[in-house]
Amino acid sequence: MTTPVGTAPAVTVPLGSVEQLIEDEHTAIRGHLSHLRGLARDLPTLDEITARQRVGAVLDFLSGGLLPHAAAEEAVLYPAIDGLLGTGATNTMTLDHEAISSLVTELDTAVRGHLGPEQRAETQRLLLVLEGLVSTHLWKEEAAYVPLLAQLDPAAYTALHASIAAHAGDQGHAH
Ligand SMILES: [Fe+2]
Ligand SMILES: [Fe+2]
Repeated sequence: MTTPVGTAPAVTVPLGSVEQLIEDEHTAIRGHLSHLRGLARDLPTLDEITARQRVGAVLDFLSGGLLPHAAAEEAVLYPAIDGLLGTGATNTMTLDHEAISSLVTELDTAVRGHLGPEQRAETQRLLLVLEGLVSTHLWKEEAAYVPLLAQLDPAAYTALHASIAAHAGDQGHAH
């Protein structure tokens, strides 16, 4: 099996569709995930001020971009999928969100004080665990949920489109 991480499945999606909006948000998230990976790589040699700036930027994305994306999915996308697959079908993906949120809290705590070698090693571990978990989670949504959206009735599809478009308008991939 080839590794799924970071690779979007081959789903043909029309422009401006719900499918495309989800794919666009995930593309933006993947851009940020590369920053997590890069920071984990660079952390041992960064001076304290630069390390703190880069960790701060990553935490801004996680708290201000990723977690709101997850909350929006739980509010609109997952209920739509549950409507197709049955109540509780998306519970395991909501648990992924909880695990991601806990890791963000752990990361925030790990970088509170002086960034000595021990704190940097723990920060590296958390960055890489987050990157792997989020990458796999995005892939699961794209492989398991996006192909189902065409089965929604037109009213449900239109409502989902409006909700996701409104959320997407608030998000971006700022460097
Ligand atoms: Fe998600
Ligand atoms: Fe997502």
